[in-house]
Amino acid sequence: MKRIAVMTSGGDSPGMNAAIRSTVRVALNEGMEVLGIINGYAGMTEDQMVNLDSRAVGDILHRGGTMLGTARCEYFKTAEGRRQALDNLRRRGVEGLVVIGGDGSLRGAKLLGEMGLPVVGLPGTIDNDIWGTDYTIGFDTAVNTVVDAINKLRDTASAHGRVMVIEVMGRKSGWIAMTSGLAGGAEQILIPEMEVNLAEICEQLRISRSNGKKYSIVVVAEGVEGASDIGDRIIAETGLETRVSVLGHIQRGGSPTVFDRILASTLSEQAVLSLKSGASGVMFGYEKGAVVAVDIGEAVENKKEIAPGMFRLAAVLAK
Ligand code: ADP
Ligand code: F6P
Repeated sequence: MKRIAVMTSGGDSPGMNAAIRSTVRVALNEGMEVLGIINGYAGMTEDQMVNLDSRAVGDILHRGGTMLGTARCEYFKTAEGRRQALDNLRRRGVEGLVVIGGDGSLRGAKLLGEMGLPVVGLPGTIDNDIWGTDYTIGFDTAVNTVVDAINKLRDTASAHGRVMVIEVMGRKSGWIAMTSGLAGGAEQILIPEMEVNLAEICEQLRISRSNGKKYSIVVVAEGVEGASDIGDRIIAETGLETRVSVLGHIQRGGSPTVFDRILASTLSEQAVLSLKSGASGVMFGYEKGAVVAVDIGEAVENKKEIAPGMFRLAAVLAK
């Protein structure tokens, strides 16, 4: 294999740059050339690609976002779009592809692999909702950002004796809410994976106030319901002074943590080495302290569950 391509796709996540850097430098070390595809599948269908040498990926390891850009591309979801993308890659002599992205991006990668191009996927999303890996690239940075925000919101909630409702990202998944809520000491954590009984939650907020708690932190995953509606409901049912904060895209940015840099660098190394040795249709993940290869099809078809133990522990610790 003489030439591979690398791309980032879907929502950006901190550590994508570390993954691009590692992919390029490991490939160069193995005697391969690397093309960078601009703006994910959009750039692939529009033939926007640049040659990446070692210097091109300098000064990016510590930066959030992605130097290649990313996009969401409806055209690639069509058979015609994928055919055009593959034609562009073939014309440029690309013999293997590394796709860094979330669930949708990996679905696209699987389809390209089935068309005959060797493809390896890496889980890159803040949502941590990819089966086959304990952690996705960017999740650790995102939850650290959220916990930092919870700490700050706690200061002002405490000062005023308020209920602070904090909405976090995650699309349909509650991983960001569960993890940051547990680490940030939230009294209530609302996630789409668990039935949410708002009347019961309001009752618990009332009880905790009468038991001496001076303020409350409620973390809501965006996949449950808008935090502002939940805040209104809490005010209506408890009469407690309540404020709502929607953290939004701040969760996607920032310098990647050490964990995300190392995760991105090691998974990318395996992606390149496996392409070189003839692999295709696999995603590299990190499970129980080791790098693992899983079938991309299994990664996108299975749902990663949130351990109920986390939920139970958060409830106990919030008492
Ligand atoms: P993420 O990768 O973060 O989950 P998206 O779901 O938006 O983000 O997917 C990113 C891109 O991957 C989409 O814009 C589209 O180009 C491609 N994609 C998503 N789902 C599919 C699919 N089922 N088939 C082909 N391509 C897909
Ligand atoms: O998948 C990452 C993510 O940040 C989700 O948590 C969120 O729902 C979505 O992307 C937001 O997408 P956009 O940047 O297109 O608003």
